[in-house]
Parts: sequence; structure tokens; C-alpha cells
Amino acid sequence: MNPLARLSPSAEPQKHKSGYGPALVAPGGRVGRWALYSATKTIWLPSRQLLISLLKGLNYLVRKVSSFTHFAQFAMQWGFSPRPEWFDHYLDQHWQWSARNNSLWVERGVFSRMVIKPNARMLEICCGDGFNTRHFYSSRASSITAVDFDKDAIPHARRYNSAPNITYVQQDIRDGLPAGSFDNIVWDAAIEHFTEIEISKILKDLVDRLGGNGVLSGYTIVEAPDGRKGNALHEYEFKDKEDLRRFFTPHFSFVKVWETFYPTRHNLYFVASQAPIDVFG
Ligand SMILES: C[S@@+](CC[C@H](N)C(=O)[O-])C[C@H]1O[C@@H](n2cnc3c(N)ncnc32)[C@H](O)[C@@H]1O
Repeated sequence: MNPLARLSPSAEPQKHKSGYGPALVAPGGRVGRWALYSATKTIWLPSRQLLISLLKGLNYLVRKVSSFTHFAQFAMQWGFSPRPEWFDHYLDQHWQWSARNNSLWVERGVFSRMVIKPNARMLEICCGDGFNTRHFYSSRASSITAVDFDKDAIPHARRYNSAPNITYVQQDIRDGLPAGSFDNIVWDAAIEHFTEIEISKILKDLVDRLGGNGVLSGYTIVEAPDGRKGNALHEYEFKDKEDLRRFFTPHFSFVKVWETFYPTRHNLYFVASQAPIDVFG
């Protein structure tokens, strides 16, 4: 008999006392040992616990290497001018989240996902790298049209954040929005990239596409106390919650704005609709 012919647990699988599910118990009572049996000999394999410890150590090293290579990409891509107007959120996932202990990037995706209707027909404007589109919205919406005017962001999104229900479109939203009606529109981390006049015009276009029950949601930042812009590409930074709210109230019957604080940022979130919605319900 081929000695590799039979890989089997050292004893019949039994229910583990801890209740976490089936575990393998060897005749001597050792949990998780596996053996290769042949007609003539038995070869013991390392215990399951040892393999888990080795894999944890290996994954720790992989994360360290991944963190370093993502930091290197950040330094090359965002360390010199001209810097992209968008951000690659894989850098957050693999480097910044742990290195700077900053979970803001997750909060943004989670808050917008909370108001996306199941199977929504969705539009995302200023989608950037498409990370949130793919990882937070595409599992809830039935279809997503995601628009950005950046000539590098859209190919990046198509390459690294594609999904069967996402269509990425390169378009300047000041020149118009994709036609159609939508259950949800997300405008995340980008309203501040437009002038006050542009924001009002775009909001009118969004209202036309949302109808009576559609929901607009998004995120922006509060201007720094000294009035200095957080980013040279920002056209208008909001003074506070009320300053942001005033842009929506002429167009929507229901507007909710709330804020969160991080050491480096004062954040504003918004939800607007013609029908009341319970954001945290
Ligand atoms: C800070 S990024 C945010 C991207 C993405 N929403 C996110 O949360 O990571 C702002 C985005 O707005 C896009 N943008 C700025 N002006 C635009 C315009 N006129 N039309 C379409 N996209 C625009 C930029 O290309 C950039 O990707």
C-alpha cells in the first residue's frame, strides 16, 4: 500500500469539550495530531496547534512585509507633487490602519453602507479608487454606476476594485451626471472639491435622479480652526454641521448631519432624502 494513500486522524473524530466544534483526539488524549498510516508504519505529523502557531507567525511576517511595501507605494505616489486627488485605500488597509491606529477610512464606508437600500440601483459620484464601491457597497446594491473624472483613478478602480455589478465611468460631474433614476447616491469625501455654486447645481441634478424615496449620503471635513485648507484641491471646506446642512435644505425635505472626531480630522456625515429615514434604526 502506498504510504501516502491514507491520511487520517489518529482516532475517530470526537466532539471537543470546549464546544467549539469537532476536534481530533489521539489515543493518548492529544488533541489535533494527525498520522499517515500504511501497512507497515505510522508517521506522525505536527500537531494542529503547532501548525496554527507557525501560520500565525508567517502571517505576522507577511503583514510586516505588506505594510512596508504599501508604505513605499504611499511615499512614491503621494510623497511628491503632483499628488493624486484620490487615495488608494489598500494603503489604509495594509499600512495606515495599524501604523497610525486610524480607522476613519472604515467608518466612512460603513456609514454610507448603512443607508443603502437592499438591491439598490446606485450611483456613486467621485468614486476615486473604487475601494468603497467594491468593498462596502457592491454587496448590498444590485447595480452601481461609479463616476470620477480622474484619468488614473478609473483605470485603477477597474483593475483593482471591479465587481460584476459595478460600471466605472470617467466623467466630469460638473458637465452632467449619468442619466437614470437611483435609489441611493453616495458622494464621499468629495463635496469639498467643488465651489458653492457647483455644489448647488450638482445637488439639483442629484434630486432629479433620486425621486421621492431615494437617499443621498456622504462624508466631508470641517475647516481647520486657523482657516487653512486641509488640501490645496479643496474648493470649499465647511465651517460646521449647520454650514453643511444649509446646502441640502433647499433641495431635500429630510436632512441629517452628524459629526465624528479624530485626532487629525473633524468629520461631517450627511444623509438627505424627500422621505424620512432612520439612519441608525
Ligand atoms: C478625496 S477623493 C475621494 C474619492 C473616494 N470617494 C473616496 O472616498 O476615497 C475626491 C475625488 O473626487 C474626484 N473629483 C473631483 N472633482 C471631480 C469632478 N468635477 N468630476 C468627477 N470627479 C471629481 C477626484 O478625482 C477624486 O477621486
